[in-house]
Amino acid sequence: MKEDCDNMQLTKYEEDMYNGEYGEGKAECMEILVSLGKIYDAEKMIPITSAQVSGVSYKTIGDAGLDFVVDLGKKADVTLETMLNPAGVDIENWQELGFSKEFTDKQIDIINGYESIGVMSTCTCTPYLIGNTPMLNEHVAWSESSAVCYVNSVIGARTNREGGPSALLAAIVGRTPYYGNHILENRVADMIFDVDYDFVNEAEIGALGYYVGQIVNDKKPYFRINKNPGRNNLKTLGAALASSGAVSLYHVENVTPEADYSRCHDSFEELETVTVDKNMIEETLEQLTTTDKIPDLVCLGCPHASISEIQEVANLVKDKKLTKDLWICTSKAIKSISKQCGYLDIIEKAGGKIVSDTCMVVAPIEELDYEVIGVNSAKAANYVPNMCKLDVVYDTVENLINMISE
Ligand code: F3S
Repeated sequence: MKEDCDNMQLTKYEEDMYNGEYGEGKAECMEILVSLGKIYDAEKMIPITSAQVSGVSYKTIGDAGLDFVVDLGKKADVTLETMLNPAGVDIENWQELGFSKEFTDKQIDIINGYESIGVMSTCTCTPYLIGNTPMLNEHVAWSESSAVCYVNSVIGARTNREGGPSALLAAIVGRTPYYGNHILENRVADMIFDVDYDFVNEAEIGALGYYVGQIVNDKKPYFRINKNPGRNNLKTLGAALASSGAVSLYHVENVTPEADYSRCHDSFEELETVTVDKNMIEETLEQLTTTDKIPDLVCLGCPHASISEIQEVANLVKDKKLTKDLWICTSKAIKSISKQCGYLDIIEKAGGKIVSDTCMVVAPIEELDYEVIGVNSAKAANYVPNMCKLDVVYDTVENLINMISE
């Protein structure tokens, strides 16, 4: 190891990248990542095994983001498994869904830019459902907040809540600064939540996440819940925690892989404990609905739906006729499995659609002819009123489908 960069220890390979031996692109990436590391007092860089890059929708990054990707593409490629977050449109079915050609062309340019440097155009916020599934204690650089929460908490891999650009730079040099969630001691809980409530559905779990996220902000909550919520609900919980707060890691007693480590830590007995009761959950459920109108679009899959969530929808709409629009957002890969399993046919026969590559928040849905969206995700309920200027009905998948079917 050589000492350089104001107390940051770089290996010979890292120092060579920093000094331009591996090209201008990698040198620029290293310079920015070392500066980032210095801000957080990182003592070294750490090798990573995968990356997940947000900042894809033309709605959120605009022309400046497109220029960034194109410029970077002239200088360097990613060097490890790197998957892309949802884009602003369904690339194959944008016309049918009502998105404009102008927006779609810009979106395709952005995706092509990422593809040209080796990023997989998976366009999903649940990369862990389609093969980008790190192992316990692996270091990664992920940026979509719900995916960060899932990979840290449910899988036990280690990432900070990266920005899209810092995750991309890390993917190019294969390194990220060693600070925050990469260090085991920093992964212990900061606050305990005793949940005195018998959860029966995903809307209640989302409400719990939304409520607790507001209290803890970027701290690490430790939940005592009387039953294992299951992977789909843990996905929902993390997304909600990361949207009302800035949570990147949580623990659930007897469920998530590092809960025991956290519980055995010296500081655990001194942590502040909050009891979450029925009233808190019910008040939050009400808070997340902004209208008493019936939705003219029900949009599920935030975070992107798993195959079992799509199976559940197929069972709910079987032999029904939908009177309003229904979208289930997911990745192309999960949509393809849905087709093989027959769920896509059932959903389409009822009048619904499986939408890939995008979601109700990052698509320019406000340009379409909708006023009220029904969602079963607290994260979507939190963002849709501001980002899409639409009213929201927050409820369970079952109740939402009952509202729009006969
Ligand atoms: Fe994913 Fe969009 Fe929700 S990116 S987490 S479906 S807001």
